[in-house]
Amino acid sequence: MNVILVAAECAPWIKTGGLGDVAGSLPKALARRGHRVMVVAPRYSDYAGAQDIGVRKRYKVDGQDMEVSYFQAYIDGVDFVFIDSPIFRHLQDNIYGGNRMDVLKRMVLFCKAAAEINEVNDFQVPWHVPCGGVCYGDGNLAFIANDWHTALLPVYLKAYYRDHGIMQYTRSVLVIHNIAHQGRGPVDDFRYTDLPEHYIDLFKLYDPVGGEHFNIFAAGLKAADRIVTVSHGYAWELKTSEGGWGLHEIINENDWKFRGIVNGIDNKDWNPKFDTHLTSDGYTNYSLETLQSGKHQCKATLQKELGLPVRHDVPIIGFIGRLDHQKGVDLIAEAIPWMMGQDVQLAMLGTGRADLEGMLRQFESQHRDKIRGWVGFSVKMAHRITAGADILLMPSRFEPCGLNQLYAMNYGTVPVVHAVGGLRDTVKPFNPFEESGLGWTFDSAETNKLINALSNCLLTYKQYKQSWEGIQRRGMSQDLSWDNAAQQYEEVLVAAKYQW
Ligand code: GLC
Repeated sequence: MNVILVAAECAPWIKTGGLGDVAGSLPKALARRGHRVMVVAPRYSDYAGAQDIGVRKRYKVDGQDMEVSYFQAYIDGVDFVFIDSPIFRHLQDNIYGGNRMDVLKRMVLFCKAAAEINEVNDFQVPWHVPCGGVCYGDGNLAFIANDWHTALLPVYLKAYYRDHGIMQYTRSVLVIHNIAHQGRGPVDDFRYTDLPEHYIDLFKLYDPVGGEHFNIFAAGLKAADRIVTVSHGYAWELKTSEGGWGLHEIINENDWKFRGIVNGIDNKDWNPKFDTHLTSDGYTNYSLETLQSGKHQCKATLQKELGLPVRHDVPIIGFIGRLDHQKGVDLIAEAIPWMMGQDVQLAMLGTGRADLEGMLRQFESQHRDKIRGWVGFSVKMAHRITAGADILLMPSRFEPCGLNQLYAMNYGTVPVVHAVGGLRDTVKPFNPFEESGLGWTFDSAETNKLINALSNCLLTYKQYKQSWEGIQRRGMSQDLSWDNAAQQYEEVLVAAKYQW
């Protein structure tokens, strides 16, 4: 099939969270299965390795003509195409920034251009990978759109093309990575979408508090041929009034086309054996065979780099992520007094809410021999903490999939997580009687539950070395690669094409 994945971010060029990782790695796994795959993302600044292909097209956004050009890079069997326009450029540091109208206009332009990308390619830059049989035209084409930013794409596909007998056989899948952001606004925002008037109903959502509003995610979910979310646990939560954030009814009505698929990880990038962030400054690559010595060295080097006492017997607890309410950083903050009574070290990396960043700095200054709070986003430090830490803490209030716990397990770092969404799917709790399981979970986002789970984890770390090593080894022995997920996406694409 010809598959075009459309996303607002794509690693390694631009990434603010897991969506970027998925856009950078799922397509490669689909390409390995023999599909012809393209990724389309905005070009926010200078993109290394991507060339201007010399095509210009114009689209109307809010009555204004906007010109776009296209940059392209071909890597590991995938065409990465970046849509260039002055309204995306210079957003490197804050790609979702600006007021509601600015963001909406950017997404309108992006989705309009992405919907026609096949045409640009047909005429100008033939896709690199021959797919056998019909390569051009829309007969075998499917779009994979991601989150509310690209939820307009399935709607445009219907309204601009399929309603007019064009791209009749082209299908769309919309993936939910996070339902908390929906592209909401007053109903009047509809006029910026440039859609026929009767499409307004797709976007209207009644608020429980009264009135109605405009909701892009709602429209996309209704218009898409299939809906996927990034774990089974989250698929279940999305159907509840608590987890669906107002969209649960739409998801329930569309259950027939809805499915959970757990994300994979890029097993080259996030593999302790090949990790390029572990090849210098005293760190070292390691694998299952060299787990103990490799981790020992990474841990000592991390302690040195962070300026913490270099001691092998003290467990390092890591946290990597956005500093916000979703990630449960406040629960960690509440647990700090208890933690500081234990013989542990804590390494936290992230940016986010100013008050939480301030709190991190304050903890660090109060406990210089125990806490390092690294405010900022450093890919290198994320890799090094994952390798050097013993434990990774993820007390997220909700977590559609979560990738850091998968990375941690791949590095022999034991996760302690709140059992929600993808965390519940992927971290089977340790069972000391069977010597099975991969980490510790707690079943509600409360500080005492977190403390309870963490103290059981610390006890095992200190007193049951063999059990601990068993947990590490089971974590590292899993196949967490994208291959399995890619096969399931393929099933969804095939179902979208033939079963409807
Ligand atoms: C979002 C979710 C996260 C998920 C990622 C990739 O960032 O919050 O849980 O892993 O998307 O799907």
